[in-house]
Amino acid sequence: MAWLCLLMILSTCQTTWAFDTRSESKLSNLTRVLLESARDPEFFGWLKWIRRRIHEYPELAFEEDNTSQLIKSELDSLGVEYSWPFAKTGVVGSIGSGLQPWFGLRADMDALPIQEMVEWEHKSKNNGKMHACGHDAHVAMLLGAAKLLERMKDELKGTVKLVFQPGEESYGGAYHMLKEGALDNFQGIFGLHVAPEIPVGTVSSRPGPMLAASGRFIATINGKGGHAARPQDTRDPVLAASFSILALQQIVSRETDPLDAMVVSVSFVEAGQAGNVIPETVRFGGSIRSLTTEGLVFLQQRVKQIVEMQAAVHQCTASLDFMEEKMRPYPSTVNDEAMYEHAKQVGEALLGESNVLLAPMTMGAEDFSFYSQKMKAAFFFIGTKNEAVRSVKRLHSPYFVIDEEVLPIGAAFHAAVAIAYLDGHAMDTQ
Ligand SMILES: *[C@@H]1O[C@H](CO)[C@@H](O)[C@H](O)[C@H]1NC(C)=O
Ligand SMILES: *[C@@H]1O[C@H](CO)[C@@H](O)[C@H](O)[C@H]1NC(C)=O
Ligand SMILES: [Zn+2]
Ligand SMILES: [Zn+2]
Repeated sequence: MAWLCLLMILSTCQTTWAFDTRSESKLSNLTRVLLESARDPEFFGWLKWIRRRIHEYPELAFEEDNTSQLIKSELDSLGVEYSWPFAKTGVVGSIGSGLQPWFGLRADMDALPIQEMVEWEHKSKNNGKMHACGHDAHVAMLLGAAKLLERMKDELKGTVKLVFQPGEESYGGAYHMLKEGALDNFQGIFGLHVAPEIPVGTVSSRPGPMLAASGRFIATINGKGGHAARPQDTRDPVLAASFSILALQQIVSRETDPLDAMVVSVSFVEAGQAGNVIPETVRFGGSIRSLTTEGLVFLQQRVKQIVEMQAAVHQCTASLDFMEEKMRPYPSTVNDEAMYEHAKQVGEALLGESNVLLAPMTMGAEDFSFYSQKMKAAFFFIGTKNEAVRSVKRLHSPYFVIDEEVLPIGAAFHAAVAIAYLDGHAMDTQ
């Protein structure tokens, strides 16, 4: 009897252990099954169809009507429930028990105002618009994850939330999703972005700060116009703007720690038109970036002070617009250490240890940062570089091409990160 009991206890332990994705062999088993499923020819064909369909009809920020229509109809076919709309076109799907923990997976849906220059069968049919940042692939990968998760929904130890958000490119769609409550009560979130710098079959990220906080500004300097031959009758805003632009370059070189990365770039200037007329007004503007959110606030303050003071020196007045509403400044993207470690382990099980790379910090920005301010979050790059299919151009290039082999990898990565997170956190809320 005693032996039988012991055997029963052992076998119970074994079963518990076998379902625990925190153990290494179970995790590699899970990732292998997910990746094989997503690479099944029919599944892969469906992923490509979605990506290409969205690629052909790119839609700009907050206009993603066809895109979210396609998402809803695919979720309907899969039998996945969703809420809609958030922030005009956003969709949030839900798979699992409905109970906590709730874990989010995120895809952005918007395209860019760029004319596609790649000649291929599925070239953009919307003139002047292009999925040049790979958000078409992001949507396909997240729908792929939905399909994988739906098959396993009875085994999920909580709820996976699929966040399809609008307006990532400069418009802070993530901010509006949060504001409308689309992510209330989430415990954590994971996001992916295609990366043409690293080979397909690799992913990369880093713990802590990863991407910059980013903002725009427009300065308007008002003076007094007049004949170029009689400068004494004018208050020259061109000169005030010139001194301002030069002075702005001293912020980074003289006022900040050389080890804190910051950028101040003036990227446009609009002054007068005639060679013999001093204009009334000059407008100029550009970008400010910092790896910390506090750094961005500092830059905003100093840009405002410097332009106002330089204008005053030249007897002009200045006003500054940081476009808080339209082109909302983004905070810096900071990965939660534990969430980063979790996704890294899943990535290693999926792709092999040597294929999970440490990403360098960059001054690029992402509105995923709004999520990372509110909950435990990890953001990963997923490689698309493959010279054989000319998938080498940088994001936002009109020649941007994606190696679609990334689609099943991204779908499996998303699904595995969520499943393993729920397995590891189910106990916390019981
Ligand atoms: C891996 O998965 C297969 C099929 O799902 C299962 O038969 C096998 O026991 C699993 N192995 C481990 C170590 O969990
Ligand atoms: C939306 O879809 C319809 C039907 O396929 C198409 O005719 C239209 O051009 C699409 N609009 C955009 C902005 O992609
Ligand atoms: Zn982009
Ligand atoms: Zn992007």
